[in-house]
Amino acid sequence: MATRISQDFLDRLLNRVDLIDLIDSRVPLRKLGRDFGACCPFHSEKTPSFTVSPSKQFYYCFGCGARGNAIRFLMEYERLSFMEAVTELARSVGLELPRGVGGGEADSQQGLLALVEQAANFFRQQLHEHPTRQKALDYLRRRGLDDETAKAFGIGYAPPGWDSLLRALTARSVAPAELLQAGLVTAHDNGHYYDRFRDRIMFPIRDRRGRTIAFGGRVLGDAEPKYLNSPETPFFHKGRELYGLYEAQQRERQLQRLVVVEGYMDVVALVQHGIPYVVATLGTATTTEQVERLFRVTHEVIFCFDGDRAGREAAWRALENALPLLQEDRQAGFLFLPDDEDPDSLIRKEGRERFEQRLTQAKPLSDYFFERLGADINLYSIDGRARLAERARPLLEKLPDSDFRDLMGERLKKITHNPLTRLSPPRVGAINVRQVSPLRSPIRLVIALLLNDLGLAKQAGDLKDLQGIKAPGLSLAVNLIELVQTNPHIQNAAQLLIRYEDTPAGPILQQLAGWRPEYPEDRFTSEFLGALKQLRERYDFTKQLLNKLAQGEPLSTEEKETLRQFQVQHNDPGLETM
Ligand code: UTP
Ligand code: MN
Repeated sequence: MATRISQDFLDRLLNRVDLIDLIDSRVPLRKLGRDFGACCPFHSEKTPSFTVSPSKQFYYCFGCGARGNAIRFLMEYERLSFMEAVTELARSVGLELPRGVGGGEADSQQGLLALVEQAANFFRQQLHEHPTRQKALDYLRRRGLDDETAKAFGIGYAPPGWDSLLRALTARSVAPAELLQAGLVTAHDNGHYYDRFRDRIMFPIRDRRGRTIAFGGRVLGDAEPKYLNSPETPFFHKGRELYGLYEAQQRERQLQRLVVVEGYMDVVALVQHGIPYVVATLGTATTTEQVERLFRVTHEVIFCFDGDRAGREAAWRALENALPLLQEDRQAGFLFLPDDEDPDSLIRKEGRERFEQRLTQAKPLSDYFFERLGADINLYSIDGRARLAERARPLLEKLPDSDFRDLMGERLKKITHNPLTRLSPPRVGAINVRQVSPLRSPIRLVIALLLNDLGLAKQAGDLKDLQGIKAPGLSLAVNLIELVQTNPHIQNAAQLLIRYEDTPAGPILQQLAGWRPEYPEDRFTSEFLGALKQLRERYDFTKQLLNKLAQGEPLSTEEKETLRQFQVQHNDPGLETM
């Protein structure tokens, strides 16, 4: 995929994007000397080891080894594919993607998404034009939905009949098979296609970027199923999406908190009544992936479910999936509604203030956790307390290393009257710790200094004399310098590194990019030139020795050893795989 986008385009992209802005809007950064830092978003930690360099346009975590450029950051943080990350970045800086970029798979996905968008437009149009629109409008009115909110959520109407959408879109020469792939029609055994959604109120489900990727459709009456959703498609995975998240973020960039409810109508009604920070899961249990997405945009999540058994089950599942993600400064709460009420019915009855008051009284996760675990246990008996400890421990052990974890452990000790109850130590992040190798060779120094200051390349002068010997480490350094010399638009390390991303040199270069040689700034040039000079001398001497060998002259033991050492140096065990 990466090869489909020209280097030139990637250069322009990485020139325009500012990595500091990009990261800071997702993970607030603090200035740390010349760089910026934060607690690493890719592993759980208490002290910041995540640094972002504005000059290199590169981030690096000394704790878990996460590192990369703006594209990599978006891929990891937002779980995007390479193409999606490039597209998103290009959009954010107003760069137009070259025609045909992405090709193949990405293009066909774009095509399908365009169909879903066309369907959304069609449904909206039908709400105002179809002969039977009145019953849909009446239904919405009965449910108290106002025009503004309906518009904000793009609500539409799938008319009755078997092929309204099918006919409308095939008239624009869309193949039915494509509509099937997009989840808009169903195929019958006899080879006929018919509309998946018929005579339903249509709720478009939008992804993070506001693209319509699926629908939920509600019957106007009591027929079953009450809600019909799009099937899983290449771009719609129920367990990943959150209904209303895009809309919530449109209204407010910095969300103080998010309320998670169960239904489409709950979201729409809460928003209409002045509670704009609300999302819904799509009729499934809250998944870890959804909790992850929630905590990426806010610090406080309140799960608001029905008070019935199903609601309590749903809440508990959400709790279990939230535990591993409860890092420092993330809060989860639970609000259970009175019998026979849901957020939609309640807000209509009580209004915003009362509802917000309820939200402030949501049960903290810590309380709900022990309350629910102990609900059927007699805590006055030793057996009961032992049982509670047994139940609680494996769950609490999912918590990442944090004060919250320690406090929950303490609380367990108190409740069970057992000061010896211990949680096993928190798991270290899944990613291996890969520190920058302390190995310092002139080659590594040259590369690391260059990555810190590309301006040094100019000072290096002509390097032609250094070409020709088979010494991969050396030729890598030479190539890097020459790349910068001959491509004036390469202005940061990220642009340089991206050229090596898929080569064996990629990983070591990324490691070296995380290293800032500990000289004061004003010594960079002299150290760089010094190391280069050293390389040259050794290189020349090695050449002499090799010549001697080639002419059949014997080498002294000392010379042999020197040659061996220089070759090792030039090859650099870390760099030799190139
Ligand atoms: P509810 O049955 O609680 O419906 O389902 P609701 O949201 O209160 O709907 P209204 O008020 O009667 O219109 C909650 C959510 O579960 C999913 C939908 O996402 C729904 O919003 N669901 C429910 C389905 O996917 N299919 C169904 O048949 C029912
Ligand atoms: Mn409802």
